[in-house]
Amino acid sequence: MPQGNPTLQPIDPAATLSKALNWRYAVRAFSGATLTDAQIQPLLEALSLSPSSYGLQPYRALLLKDRALRQQLVPHAMGQEKVADCSHLLVLAAQTCIGDHTVDQYAQRANRVREEPIPQGMLDHMKTALAGMSTAEQQQWAHQQACVALGNLLTSAALLGVDACPIGGINPKGIDQVLGLADLGLTTTVLIALGVRDHGDALAQQPKVRLGVDELVVGRE
Ligand SMILES: Cc1cc2nc3c(=O)[nH]c(=O)nc-3n(C[C@H](O)[C@H](O)[C@H](O)COP(=O)(O)O)c2cc1C
Repeated sequence: MPQGNPTLQPIDPAATLSKALNWRYAVRAFSGATLTDAQIQPLLEALSLSPSSYGLQPYRALLLKDRALRQQLVPHAMGQEKVADCSHLLVLAAQTCIGDHTVDQYAQRANRVREEPIPQGMLDHMKTALAGMSTAEQQQWAHQQACVALGNLLTSAALLGVDACPIGGINPKGIDQVLGLADLGLTTTVLIALGVRDHGDALAQQPKVRLGVDELVVGRE
C-alpha cells in the first residue's frame, strides 16, 4: 500500500507541478498572516540545493522578519509596501569579491562531504575561468547565479503552497546601505516577499499572460 498518499490516488508528478505553477502568481497584496518556521525551512533548503555555475554559489541570502527594518527598504523598492507587509522577506545578494578563494572554499566544502577530492585540474580550470572575467563580468555572473536560485525558490514555494513575489524593482545600492551588505561583501540581486496572499488581491484570479509552448519553443529538431 502506498505510504503518505491517504487518498490512494495515483500520484501524477506532472499534474502536481502544473497545478502548483498555475496556482502561483506574483502576489501584489499579502494578508497579515505569518509563515511558520516549518514553512520557511524547506524554502531555505531549496535555496541551499539550487544548482549554480561550477557549484560555487557566489551569493548569500538574508531572511528578514523584522517589520521596522523591512519598512526602511520600501523606499528602495519603488514604494512597494509588500516588502513590509509580507510575512518574511528574503534578500538574495551576490558576492562582490570573487576569485581564487571562491574556488578554494568550494574545494574545502567538497572535501568535507566527499571521499574523493575535486581533481586539481578542475579546480585550476575554475580559477582560470573566473580570472578570465572582468570584475563587472564576475558580478554579473554572480547575480545570474542568484537568479537561478530565485527560480528554484519560486517553484519550491509554489509546490509547498507558500505565496511569494519576486521583487526586482529595487535600488540595490539603497538596499545594500540599509542592510550593511558592503560589510558582508555582498550586493543585492533581488528581493522575495513570502507570505499568504490577501483574498482581495484580484490578480490571483487573472489568467496568466504567457507565450504558449509552441511560441516559446521555436525549434524542435
Ligand atoms: C526578476 C523578477 C523581478 C520582478 N520584479 C517585480 C517587482 O518589483 N514587483 C512586482 O510586483 N512583481 C515583480 N515581478 C513579478 C512579475 O511581474 C511577474 O512574475 C510576471 O508579471 C508574471 O506574472 P505571474 O508571476 O503573476 O504569473 C518580478 C519577476 C521577476 C522574475
